[in-house]
Amino acid sequence: MGLRLGDTAPNFQAVTTIGKIDFYEYLGDSWGVLFSHPADFTPVCTTELGKTSQLKDAFEARNVKVLALSVDPIEKHFEWIGDINETQNTNVDFPIIADEDKAVATTYDMIHPNASESFTVRSLFIIGPDKKIKLIITYPASTGRNFVEVLRVIDSLQLTAQHSVATPANWQHGEDVIVVPAISTEVALEKFPKGVKVVKPYLRYTPQPNLN
Ligand code: BEZ
Repeated sequence: MGLRLGDTAPNFQAVTTIGKIDFYEYLGDSWGVLFSHPADFTPVCTTELGKTSQLKDAFEARNVKVLALSVDPIEKHFEWIGDINETQNTNVDFPIIADEDKAVATTYDMIHPNASESFTVRSLFIIGPDKKIKLIITYPASTGRNFVEVLRVIDSLQLTAQHSVATPANWQHGEDVIVVPAISTEVALEKFPKGVKVVKPYLRYTPQPNLN
């Protein structure tokens, strides 16, 4: 059975473009984004890694370390990074795993044989500082992911880990959030001094609590 939300993200050692790493050591106490792409020197993957690199400051601001992965060899990764930097106007400095023996891809169930026998699909895992898997998404090779959406989910995960709230559909940082059903309105009014708007007994909003 594949990995599921709440499972511990398996540790691994891997050859990457920043040298050999131990996944847990690389993450330290940070959040992590581990994502696979089908192959080097392919157009959609080039834009995905470029976009991730361009968002470096946004990931750092959220204490997130990113790692990409494909089953291509390390020499190909190094060569391809030159193309990514040139065409996407960036400087890729996060590690790209060369998973030639497919060890990590197999552990993380990134190869879906009915999509491709040999290449990884576009899997993405968000991993918390507790090493638990917080989000899993899988996209087909033909569709590039939205890394701004990945940041939005991280904002939600980091907020909801600290406060008794959940985030509504299409929520963006700064917008009102939902009071979780597990707490009463009486308790919510104590916890959220900015106020609680009761639309229905089960649908209650409060201003984002970690903002001044
Ligand atoms: C791409 O990254 O452009 C791509 C990779 C595999 C199949 C189709 C597109």
